[in-house]
Amino acid sequence: MFEKEDVLIMGIESSCDETAAAVTRNGLDVLSNVVASQVDWHRKFGGVVPEIASRKHLEFINPVINEALAEAGIETGELDAVAATYGPGLVGGLLVGLSAAKALAYALDKPFIGVNHIAGHIYANFITHRDIEPPVLCLTISGGHTDLLYFKELGQYKILGRTRDDAAGEAFDKIARFLKLGYPGGPVIEETAARGEAVISFPRALIDEDTYDFSFSGLKTAVINYVHNQQQRGEDLDVANIAASFQQAVIDSLIAQLIKAVKEFDPTSVILSGGVAANRTLREQLKGELEKYNLPLYYPELKLCTDNAAMIAAAGYYQYINGNYSPLSLNADPNLKL
Ligand code: KG4
Ligand code: ZN
Repeated sequence: MFEKEDVLIMGIESSCDETAAAVTRNGLDVLSNVVASQVDWHRKFGGVVPEIASRKHLEFINPVINEALAEAGIETGELDAVAATYGPGLVGGLLVGLSAAKALAYALDKPFIGVNHIAGHIYANFITHRDIEPPVLCLTISGGHTDLLYFKELGQYKILGRTRDDAAGEAFDKIARFLKLGYPGGPVIEETAARGEAVISFPRALIDEDTYDFSFSGLKTAVINYVHNQQQRGEDLDVANIAASFQQAVIDSLIAQLIKAVKEFDPTSVILSGGVAANRTLREQLKGELEKYNLPLYYPELKLCTDNAAMIAAAGYYQYINGNYSPLSLNADPNLKL
């Protein structure tokens, strides 16, 4: 059924609350993509409980791997390598997936490949949009990351800029908590902002400087000071306008740094990944801005946006063809950076 030269990679993902295994062929052909979600066990606690997550990963990992093999219609012996997320994430969960991957690779005498979860999220775009031709720019914006990357080839990227303090999603979450709007902050800020106008002038750090880095902590302080001043003067808080003005400042910073890179690197397209990429105002404004440069904007299909193992197998494939294998001594790294 498979050509001899086909490369079959198993990916394993267990960094948060999904236990996932997948098989891809030659990088981006997804033969199976099995995800066991633990959300029902965590919901009543209002968030992921690490201890429960580790135990559920242990329970699910072997059945999920077997299902991924069965769905792909292959035997373990046909795998060319086994890839697993080794960070960032919850250490207990990471260890379960890593150990399973190492054991399988060792038993098969095939390469073991440790994959950065964030790189996985980026490769989800290439699975969804097979026609993306490098060079491309990628903006990864989540609760833990704000990274601007340049892909010269699919397997080769360079980090142009990253946040110097808070991640974009973290800023949304902190401001939402400060304004008592709830969690996660992104969606509630977006919803609140839709009822207001971006009339308050908050800072857009670094956009006029010779850097692709981001910084959101000054913005956070500016919002907090604004609110305190309003409270001291005994004025009613214009929460919708504050949310809209804050959101616009984040969006302007993201777009300004990205457009600087567009001018410098002349990419064929731009891809967005991470939870903040769900922000519709950001998507619309960025899309409009990129149209001026005739550039399409891509994001992954929904089932590849959330945690899955197909993206880990895809990222693992590009490490595999570059000979970038990992030693079996590779440890989990909860704070791994790109
Ligand atoms: O990538 P993700 O699901 O998880 C990790 O951080 O790994 O990203 C979650 C982040 C949270 O900070 C959340 O507030 C933010 O994405 N987010 C949004 C929106 N939806 C989620 N931020 C802005 N606008 C949104 N609509
Ligand atoms: Zn993730």
